[in-house]
Amino acid sequence: MPRPLNIVLAAVAGLGAIAVASYLAWPRDPVSRVTVNDPAQHWAREGFVEMVPPIQLPSSTADATDVVVWLRIPDDGVIQTRWSEARAGWVLVFPPGTVADRVEQRGSGPDRSVVDVRGTRLGEGDDEGDPPQEWMHTLRRAASGVNAPLFGYEWPRSDPAAHQRATDLLLEELATLAPASKMSAERRDRYLASIRRKNECASCHTHERPDNAVEGAHGLVNRGTDASGFFTPQTVLMDAVVLESYGGVDPNLSDPAVTIVCPDGTAPTHKTGKGKRVRAVCPDRGVPVATLDHARIDAPRLTKLCRARRYLHEHLDEQGQRVFADALTPCERLE
Ligand code: HEC
Repeated sequence: MPRPLNIVLAAVAGLGAIAVASYLAWPRDPVSRVTVNDPAQHWAREGFVEMVPPIQLPSSTADATDVVVWLRIPDDGVIQTRWSEARAGWVLVFPPGTVADRVEQRGSGPDRSVVDVRGTRLGEGDDEGDPPQEWMHTLRRAASGVNAPLFGYEWPRSDPAAHQRATDLLLEELATLAPASKMSAERRDRYLASIRRKNECASCHTHERPDNAVEGAHGLVNRGTDASGFFTPQTVLMDAVVLESYGGVDPNLSDPAVTIVCPDGTAPTHKTGKGKRVRAVCPDRGVPVATLDHARIDAPRLTKLCRARRYLHEHLDEQGQRVFADALTPCERLE
């Protein structure tokens, strides 16, 4: 009597097929957990290149670079260049597979460690010509101490619910860890709210945003963005960049290789604000522009800047190599 057996087998096979089909059709969770076990080595070891900008980024610690931007472009990835009406200038369009991370360190001496990472991984566009999906991530310390491992979450920029969930998961976990766990309830709430605000990535990382000529014209950050929503990489190829008014310390004010000029051509005045921060101030809330004189920087700094410039240049399309050809001129001194 083979029949019942056949029916049973067919039924089992059928169930299996349904299970496989529903597994394939089941949408994958767009939020995933990410970890970095060795923050001191991670980016250099994983093939990232430090995007050293000509004009230094605002810092919180005097005499130290708190924020480092790392970039990794796939070996065969090409950075497209496009004329941007919004910026009235050329903008970079990074290829799928590119990862950029803003890595922030705090503390001094042996206690110095990575405390915050915010980054973006460019996925594939849905269709030919579509902009790539931006997978955003935030990582924070899982413990205190030197080189403490980092944990966090990644989510697609286009999915507000995933973003909300990734932020909630991160904050829930941070609330149980030091320093939040050691704070009063009120302080903890304020601390976690500040991390939630920092997780509003898209509010700052708009695309092809022009520079501010007047403070606050297009956003809190004075620099504009490229077509991928990044601030720093494109400035690596430039010599003149607008100064920022936030951050604890502006290392450019005491940099002998940097000249700072207001939009009306006058020299800015130095004003001391909150937390004794000295900043360059221009008439009518104009944003000062800082220009680097390559002849006045030492070989180690030029070497780092040129490493970043060459890395971008190697990946630029033909048009970009022409438009940004001058960026490599100061690097000839090193050869
Ligand atoms: C208040 C504005 C602001 C918010 C919010 C913000 N960023 Fe940024 N981000 C910046 C600025 C400015 C830089 C450039 C480095 C610097 O000056 O610190 C930067 C750097 C980066 C970089 C390196 C490439 C670049 O643009 O220079 C990435 C990637 C990045 N941020 C991703 C994120 C992600 C992901 C989030 C959310 C989790 C986020 N950012 C939230 C302002 C912001």
